Parts: sequence; C-alpha cells; structure tokens
Amino acid sequence: MKARILSLLLAIALPFQLLIAGEGMWLPLLLKALNEEEMQSLGMKMTAEDIYSVNRGSLKDAIVHFGGFCTASIISPNGLLLTNHHCGYGAIQDHSTLEHNYLEDGFWARSRDEELMNPGLTATLIVRIEDVTDKVLRGVTADMSREARQSRIDQNMAYVREHIHKEDWQDVTVKPFFHGNQYFAFVTVTYRDVRLVGAPPSSIGKFGADTDNWVWPRHTGDFSLFRIYAGPDNLPADPSPDNVPYRPKHFLPISLDGVEEGDFTLVFGFPGRTNEYLPAVAVDHIANGIDPTRIEIRDLTLEVWDEAMRADPQVKIQYASKFASLANGWKKWQGEVLGLKKTDAIGKKRRYEEQFAELVASRPDWQERYGHILPTFEQLYARVGPLKVARTRYYETVTRNIEALRVAGYLRRLVNLWKNNGPEAYADYRDRLVAYLEGFYRNYRPELDQRVFARQMALYFEKGGELLVDEAVRSRLTAAGNDFNTWATALYAGSLLPKGEHLLALLQQADGEKVVATLEADPAYALFLDLERRYQESAGKPLEPLQKEIDELMRLYMRAQMEVFANKRFYPDANGTMRVSYGQVEGYYPRDGVHYLAQTWLEGVMEKYVPGDYEFDVPEKLRQLYARKDYGPYGENGRMPVCFIGSNHTTGGNSGSPAIDARGNLIGLNFDRAWEGTMSDLNYDIRLCRNIMVDIRYVLFIIDKFAEAHWLIEEMKLVHPKKEHRGK
Ligand code: ARG
Ligand code: GLU
Repeated sequence: MKARILSLLLAIALPFQLLIAGEGMWLPLLLKALNEEEMQSLGMKMTAEDIYSVNRGSLKDAIVHFGGFCTASIISPNGLLLTNHHCGYGAIQDHSTLEHNYLEDGFWARSRDEELMNPGLTATLIVRIEDVTDKVLRGVTADMSREARQSRIDQNMAYVREHIHKEDWQDVTVKPFFHGNQYFAFVTVTYRDVRLVGAPPSSIGKFGADTDNWVWPRHTGDFSLFRIYAGPDNLPADPSPDNVPYRPKHFLPISLDGVEEGDFTLVFGFPGRTNEYLPAVAVDHIANGIDPTRIEIRDLTLEVWDEAMRADPQVKIQYASKFASLANGWKKWQGEVLGLKKTDAIGKKRRYEEQFAELVASRPDWQERYGHILPTFEQLYARVGPLKVARTRYYETVTRNIEALRVAGYLRRLVNLWKNNGPEAYADYRDRLVAYLEGFYRNYRPELDQRVFARQMALYFEKGGELLVDEAVRSRLTAAGNDFNTWATALYAGSLLPKGEHLLALLQQADGEKVVATLEADPAYALFLDLERRYQESAGKPLEPLQKEIDELMRLYMRAQMEVFANKRFYPDANGTMRVSYGQVEGYYPRDGVHYLAQTWLEGVMEKYVPGDYEFDVPEKLRQLYARKDYGPYGENGRMPVCFIGSNHTTGGNSGSPAIDARGNLIGLNFDRAWEGTMSDLNYDIRLCRNIMVDIRYVLFIIDKFAEAHWLIEEMKLVHPKKEHRGK
C-alpha cells in the first residue's frame, strides 16, 4: 500500500526523470544489477537468480515463445502449455469443421491420445542469454562510413553465431538493443510438436469480442491449452505419434489464493516492439500524422464491412476474423492518440529535450558529439514526415484494405519470379500462393470489396495528393467519367482478381507465359502496378536513405541519452526478445470522476449477457454454474473472479504471458491492455497504463467445472502461498 501511494506521488510530482516501478521491459539476465532491489521493495520474495539462472531451473525455463507471435507458460511436469485463446485461434480454427466447430463450441481432449497435432506450430525456450556487444562491435570505429560499419557488424554477428557455445539441437539469434548500441545473443531450443489440448467456446474465450477489446472492465476467459511433445530423449522432434510429453526444467505452480490491490506482479514474455526513446518530433509525427491516417482509412473499410456483416450472417462468418484483425489496430491507435494527448507526451518529451540540450551544452565534448542531434531530427522529420504518411497511406490502402489489390501484390511477386528467377522458383511460389488463395477466396466477397474500393480510392485521391496520384493513376478515374462508383463497377467486372475461381483456374492450368500475359492485360493488376510505381518513385525510394539517416541518428541519440542521464536506469525497447515487466495489481482513474477497480467478477459477465448476441452470449452451462454458485475451490467468498489489471509494462507479443506472484506462482494470464494506456508503446505513464489478465482461478474453474477436464487439473500443482506464509 505504502509503495503504491509513493509511486502515485512520484508519478504526479516527477513526470519523467525517475523510472517508477511499472515502466520497463527488462532483460532477465540484468535483473540482479538493475531491478532486484526494487522488485523486493515492491514485495517480491524471490531473487533475480530464481527468475533467470543458467545453472539451475528458474522461472525462465517455464516461459515459451509460442509460434513466434505470442507467449505461453509451462504449467505441469508434462509440458502442458497455457496461452491465450486468441493466440491458439488459428490452430483451433484449423481443426474446426461444420460438424466439429471448436471455435464455437470449444474443444477438450479427454486424454493425451485426443490431443491434436499442429504441424508448423512451434514452442521456443531460452537456454541462455549472452551480452555479445564487444564481439559484434569489434573493429567498428567512429569514423567509419555507414556502409562499412554495417558490413563489419554483419561479419561479426555471423562470427558470433557460428562460434557461440551451443548444442547441435540448439539455435542462436543475435539482436541489436538500444537502437544498435548493444547486442545480445539468445541460445534457444525450438520444439516442433505442439498439440492442442483444450479451448473454451468463443463465448468465453472471446467474450465481448471487438466491443470489449482493449477495454477495461473486462470479462473474457481468453485462454487455451497446448502441450509440447519431444522425442524420447526430451529433445525437439518432428511431429510424430511416437513423441512423448516434454519434461521441463521448471513449470509454474498455480496459486489459488487470488490477488489484492497492491500485490506484486511479474509478467514474463516476448513483447514485440516499442519506441520509448523517440524525440518529441517523432512522437508528434505519429500522433498527428501516422495514427490518424491509418485510423481514417480503416474507418471506411470497417464501416462497409460492418454494415454487410449485420445484413448477412454468411458475410459475418466470412469476415469475422478479418474484421477483428483490422479493428484491433484501429482501436489501439485511437487509444494511443488519446493517451498521448492526455498525458501531454509531446510536451513531456520537449521538456526532457530541453534538459538534455542543457546538459549537453555544459560539456564541450558532449556538445561536439551530441549537440547536433535534436536540431537534425527536426530537419529530417520535416522532410520525411509527408513521405512517411504517404507510405502509411499506400500500404494501408493498397496492401491491406482493398483486398483485390492485395492479391495483385502477391501476383506481382509471381510475375517477377517468372521473369527473373525461372520456372522452378515460379512453380514453387505458385503452389504456395494457390494454397493461400484457396483459403482467402472462401472468405471473400467481391461486391463488398468493390464498395471498399470505391470509398478508399475517393479518400486516396483526396488525401494522397501528387505523391500518390499521378497522371497515369488519375487517367483511370477520368476514363470512368470521374465517378468512383462507376470506376469500381467497371474494374471489378473487367478483372480476374475479384473472381477467385477463374484466377485459381488460370494459375493451376496455364503455363507461366500465359499467366503473365493474362495478368499484364488485367485492369486491376495494371492499376496496382501504377499505384505501386507512383508510390515508389515519389515516396518509397526517396525515403530509404532518409530512414537510414534517422536510424543512425537514433543510435547516437540513444547513446547520448544513456551517457548524459547517467543516473537514469534504461531498459531497451521491445524487439521480440524475452523480457520481465513488473508492477502491482492496481486500478486507475481513466477520466474525471471515474475510478476503475482492479478486479472483475462473474456477475459482470451476467450484466453484459445478451442472449444470442455474437459478442455477448453466455453458454448455458456457465449460467447454470453461476446460478448455483458452483465454483469449487476457485471462488472467493461465494463469488467468481474473472479478470484483473496491473501496472505491468506490456505490448503486443505479451499475449499469453504468465502473471506471476511474489513467490513465483502463476496468478494470471496476460491478454490485453486498457485503452487509455495503449500509448505505453511510446510513453508509459503509471497513472493510466494497465495490462489486463485473466484471473487464473477463472481459468481453472472453466477447465474443472465448465469443461469437466479434471485430468488436466490433476497434472497441475495448485498451491496456497498466501495461506502458507500468513504472518511471515
Ligand atoms: N487486443 C488484444 C491484442 O492486441 C486482443 C486481440 C484479440 N481479440 C480481439 N477481440 N480481436 O492482441
Ligand atoms: N493482445 C495483445 C497481444 O496479442 C496484447 C495486448 C497488448 O498489445 O498489450 O500480444
């Protein structure tokens, strides 16, 4: 409690100087030096060595990079994996048919024999992390050209990868940190037989769907279960019935004691990407240029899709997943802009920069090396700003929102392979493309895409300006009488791309020569080429050298910040590598007069329940359990906890990360952030930034009482850490 009040006071009084608990995604091997003391002062009873050790089993041995895009944790001695429902979604969908709709009804293996294989799905563990900065930067000098520097670094990295100590079955990756000022190597082991064990129905695992996405208070049971299988030697093996459950070096015991405000929490996982050290001018550019551009583009598509999905249940099924993925970013960026403004992130950065400039000016050697950084950023951003907005507009519109043009992009790659790489490369890509397009066209409505095209092109012409629309592009509209709808109708009638069957028949039956000739005569394909050419010549190409300059300057700025603010603790931006975040269970004040509590309950699910609704339906069995208050050992004073929030610094990729208590037990499952705080990717603020977790007791309740998969509960280790340690 005391620590919480203190951190609140600090948050208000000292907006940027000090790092306060909550902010930061830390490297596990540096916890001892940088964080252990603070973690313990927040209530942690473990040591840094309990979290990350190379000599003995530690928490890190239970943390898994799931499929390369999510996190999972090992929760039994038999390799049982816990991750999010939305992380397992693809696998669950792949096994679903009309008769066995596991997305809709859930799936529960009744024994190991019924667990389902997912070829291609992987589980990666971290064996060891090593600081290889000296090796990677060996021979790199300050006066080297950018090209010489990069080529030296590439050589050094290759050398490190080749010579690092590791076993045959292990892999190594080397990655830059702090914008290229440090390098770490990760020795990993990747298991290739990962089977689906259980998943609740979407009415639990995706309860609240897009309406509730990114929002607190939340009531989603966003979890699914998988299992790692290994060869008899416990080493990675291709998927095979002969494989056996993986025996981990460590698995997480599960606490039944629940959480309270102020409890210490640790989130362990693989956050994808953040940008915490940008200059103010870059944040300004994101908040006022990039984000509004992508939001306004997606606005249009989502509006057209939503209308069609509401009118036709078949369209709803076909577009549900695409809608969710487009809406996910769209909603997050709105929260990001809002949060940046609300916390005056740009003003805060400006003040930080004033301080930086003052300190730099106080020493001639700093002034010499770093004095030019901030003014140069201003100049560079003035030049790249419009180009980057054009890039965003091009990629969003042409490669994401208009589906026929996205297909054109894949086809262009095919055409290029035919022309430049020969028939073999062509055939190889064609087969993969055909497989992809078969799935794509099952969920594609040309008439809908045509409407999106007309709306999107109107916006593209209006806002894209000369950078994106030249005479060649414009003449296509002119030919259609300057009417976007007429143009769309003609284009979709005259092109092969909106007609899946015909396009697939062409790809499968004709030779490369014929395919290329047909495509090059196709109006949608030709339009794509014009749009792409215009974008590349006016924005894409000119941007390349400027972006390199920015990256280079960012490396210097990062280094300068670390040198000039020598007392400040720095954590590296997320880059898909293993990190530890920590904070406390705590609510927040989203706006004037409103206080959000940290925990939600099953009552809240019932409050949101709308019978038959595609987002807020509740399964009958869950309603019955609720009516009987049949919560087994998982309830708390006759109520069932569902989700909770904390001040842990997380981002995309942290989905499926375990939330761990002061003693190393599992208490929750991370799956989202609260809307008002999604700007934590650019500017963490402890007053607003919260991660959202499923309470582990809700997960156990659903497995045990709802799914009656008792055999899974039996292989877990359930503990009562608070009861055991009461008074100690
Ligand atoms: N916002 C979460 C994330 O970024 C959850 C996304 C999946 N859920 C959804 N309703 N689309 O991944
Ligand atoms: N849902 C996100 C994911 O898939 C986590 C939410 C966030 O961005 O923090 O990683």
